[in-house]
Order: sequence, then structure tokens, then C-alpha cells
Amino acid sequence: MSQISDLVAGKLRDIPDFPKPGVVFKDFTPLFADGPALRELVRDIAQRYAGSVDVIVGIEARGFILGAAVAYELGLGMVPVRKAGKLPGETLRESYALEYGTAEIEVHTDAFQPGQRVLVIDDVLATGGTAEATALLVERAGAKVAAIEVVLELSFLEGRKRLAHHPVNAILTV
Ligand code: PRP
Ligand code: HPA
Repeated sequence: MSQISDLVAGKLRDIPDFPKPGVVFKDFTPLFADGPALRELVRDIAQRYAGSVDVIVGIEARGFILGAAVAYELGLGMVPVRKAGKLPGETLRESYALEYGTAEIEVHTDAFQPGQRVLVIDDVLATGGTAEATALLVERAGAKVAAIEVVLELSFLEGRKRLAHHPVNAILTV
């Protein structure tokens, strides 16, 4: 394991039976609460994409924390992909299935300039439903998915298979 994946692995916490029985939830709050660790993580992501992306997409909710920090580090803007009903302007919407339920997410129709290269950031890749729906939204809104970056990939859920058309990087895979 690399130094950064060791750091991440040491700061995530397993919460059994959340949000429902049988799910072992990977809790990111200890990682986000550690200033030096958060800074190292954000800088690791930012240096991978410096000069090759035009805008960051952060996926609600934990993707906002990372996405905004990476955008700031790169001097780029951050576009939020939000749960349905939260964005105030005209939106595009996608439905998707989650590891534990179903959901709908949205992006503003005018969020991107045509052809902008987008880095999608989230905390976890599980079934891949959220990231797949986000990539569809980005493309429907006229931009291009340059890469999808997640901190943690739960490989047993095989989410990467649903993202075959895009480069996917996970800092830690379990
Ligand atoms: C979690 C996580 C990812 C998604 C991954 O968010 O932050 O966005 O699930 O799951 P998937 O790969 O199976 O789609 P969640 O939907 O729990 O929303 P929250 O961050 O608002 O709690
Ligand atoms: N942790 C955080 N987010 C998630 C998880 C998890 O274990 N599974 C799906 N989304």
C-alpha cells in the first residue's frame, strides 16, 4: 500500500449495521476531522489532475467536502450534484439504485461550459450507481467526464464494472 492509502485506511472507521442490518458502513468522519490527513488527501488528489481538468463535480454529501477542497487547491470551480429537490434552478435528473435503497440526483442544466473536462469526486464507490448516474448527468449537461476519483472502493460490490467508459481511480480498495 502507498503512504496515502495507509493514511486513509488508518482513519476510516467501521460501523456495523448502519444504515441497516448487515451493512458495515465505512465512516469518513475521523479522516475528515484530522487536519494534516485531510490536507494530504486533498493534495494527493489535486496533483493527479492539475492541468488536465477544468471543473470539479462533488457528489452530495461527502463528495462536497472533498470536491470543494480539491477545487480550491487547483483554483477551479466546483459543481454540486445533489439529491433531487435541492437545487434551485432548472435541473437534469437521474434515478439509480443504491447498496441500501434508491435515489435520484440532479445537476443544473447550465452547470458546465460545452466540452468542459470534469473530475467527479466522491468518498466511496460501492455499487457504482451514484457515480454512473453522475457521469450520465455530466454528459447530458454537455461536459466530458475526464475521470472519477474516489477515496474508497468497495470492490466486492463491483461498481467499477458500471463505469467502464471512464477512468476510475480509488486511493484505497477493500
Ligand atoms: C454514499 C456515498 C456515495 C454512494 C456510493 O452516499 O457517499 O455517494 O453512497 O454508493 P453506490 O456506489 O452504491 O452508488 P449516500 O447515497 O449514502 O448519500 P449521503 O452522502 O448524502 O449520505
Ligand atoms: N460508507 C460510506 N458510504 C457508503 C458506504 C459506506 O460503507 N456504502 C455505500 N456508500
